[in-house]
Amino acid sequence: MCGIVGYIGPDEAAPILLDGLSKLEYRGYDSAGLAIYNDGRINIEKAVGKLANLSEKTGGGSQVKGSLGIGHTRWATHGKPNEVNAHPHSTENFSIVHNGIIENEAMLRRTYLNDVNFVSDTDTEVVVRLLEKFTSEGEAIDVAIMHLIDIIDGSYALAIIDRRNPEYMYAVKNKSPLLIGKGEGFNMIGSDAMAMIAHTDTFYEIHDQEFAIVTRNSVDIFTSYSKKVDREPYKAELDLSDISKGTYPHYMLKEIEEQPLVLRRIIGEYQNDAGELTVPEEILADVRACDKIYIIACGTSYHAGIIGKHFFENISGKPADSYIASEFVYNTPLLTERPLFIFISQSGETADSRAVLVKIKEMGHKAITLTNVKGSTLSREADHTMLLYAGPEIAVASTKAYTAQVAVLAILAVAVKNKIGIDLKYELALIANTIESLCSDRELYKRLAEEYIAPSRNCFYIGRGVDYYVCLEAALKLKEVSYVQTEGFAAGELKHGTISLIEEGTPVVAIITQYNTHLNTRGNIKEVTARGAKVIRISTKGASSRRDQIVIGDVHELLTPLVSVVPAQYLAYYTAFLRGCDIDKPRNLAKSVTVE
Ligand code: M6R
Repeated sequence: MCGIVGYIGPDEAAPILLDGLSKLEYRGYDSAGLAIYNDGRINIEKAVGKLANLSEKTGGGSQVKGSLGIGHTRWATHGKPNEVNAHPHSTENFSIVHNGIIENEAMLRRTYLNDVNFVSDTDTEVVVRLLEKFTSEGEAIDVAIMHLIDIIDGSYALAIIDRRNPEYMYAVKNKSPLLIGKGEGFNMIGSDAMAMIAHTDTFYEIHDQEFAIVTRNSVDIFTSYSKKVDREPYKAELDLSDISKGTYPHYMLKEIEEQPLVLRRIIGEYQNDAGELTVPEEILADVRACDKIYIIACGTSYHAGIIGKHFFENISGKPADSYIASEFVYNTPLLTERPLFIFISQSGETADSRAVLVKIKEMGHKAITLTNVKGSTLSREADHTMLLYAGPEIAVASTKAYTAQVAVLAILAVAVKNKIGIDLKYELALIANTIESLCSDRELYKRLAEEYIAPSRNCFYIGRGVDYYVCLEAALKLKEVSYVQTEGFAAGELKHGTISLIEEGTPVVAIITQYNTHLNTRGNIKEVTARGAKVIRISTKGASSRRDQIVIGDVHELLTPLVSVVPAQYLAYYTAFLRGCDIDKPRNLAKSVTVE
């Protein structure tokens, strides 16, 4: 995970790097650091904890002079989050920042660095020590970088500066995201476009096993065989307002309330000139040709995948299943004869999902990626991409990306075969309006969170069918931001074990939107109520009963996950708020999980 920014140009680097890092804090926030070149020296500043600590320590960067520098926010993998392990890591001449994991670090230490006394516990220190060693043995820096690419196994995005060559900055990439920002008289390196968008909207991609030599006025990209790459820069469709909180206290709340806008944007992006929702024919041909769809994802995206399975089977009549990527890669099920893979990933960088993509590509299978990030690794490496158009999602807890994923899956399922004759464009527009009216009930959600969930140690979500699938996502949302231990259960399973967890006052949230099961779920509510549970009921109008606290306007029954998840997102948000949690950056988590 971790975030990287680099700057070379005429201005003071440190404030620019701190500002860039503030856009990357979602990638990790255990510690942060800067390396700034000035007058023959590289000055290092580090601080444990959030970026604000580093900013305070350096007077917002004003106390570290110099116009060449690199910066880092860390999500610890090797070694505790302390100042010694914080990046940058340095030797006599080099400072580097790293995102990723060096898998063969033990072998590298043994083979090349036996006599070195390491100061940190990080795998990154191995890289900077190797660079120092190779250059001190006479290799030119570009040769030393190619040497590194040759011997390092694992994932790395690296930004490097060299005390002896302050007119250059170096970037190296393998399996971890890295872009070059192209400016006028300056250039930047960053983990994503958001870190640089205040300065430029023009970017170069660097692909795996490539490196770049960056000066104020030039960007040269090379393969690991030193062949110069001829690549055009591209313009990012981002603007600063997309990544600011505006008047919202938290990104999570802003992103929950952007969901109607996101759905309308998706309708606009996926409709053709005749106003019909469409998907490129080459994608449809691949889906139609398969005998089963394998959906691969992690976390929230996996939960969207389960809804996708429901869509493909019920709307298109195509067998489908959703799999947790980290399980699938090492415990691959027996595949059908003509499988087709769909990867769902907000970031497009999730290492667990990518491991599956690499594996199934080696097996010769086709893949589609649904992602929010154009040009991301999963997008580049799949045969096709369907974008989510959710806009940047900054809060670690995914909200609008989930609804975007579900909506795009519905569009794909309907385009493959609309067995049930659903008017999806109309339905999605209706859903956008319905979510808008849900957003006007903030006080209700806050009151329910306060009365039922915030004081409790644990909580349960129950539902059947798609409601159960939404319960899984609702439970993840609540536990990750509020630290209230929450599980989502199939309501019918309660009596087979789980009901023993219900005590006097245990909060249970029931989701009831399906006509064929609403009476059964209500029966389960009676069972938990009889054992002391305090129940919040979220229902759609047609399946509602008089005492339900949250009643959602009716939408197509297959698409209720798009609306029933919204009150659950609010309950998670307000519970975290009332418990004083760091809502946008929950402990131990990072937004983009680029390690397996
Ligand atoms: O970027 P991805 O969608 O691949 O990320 C997968 C999960 O890490 C992610 O969905 C995670 O579960 C959410 N941030 C939780 O809200």
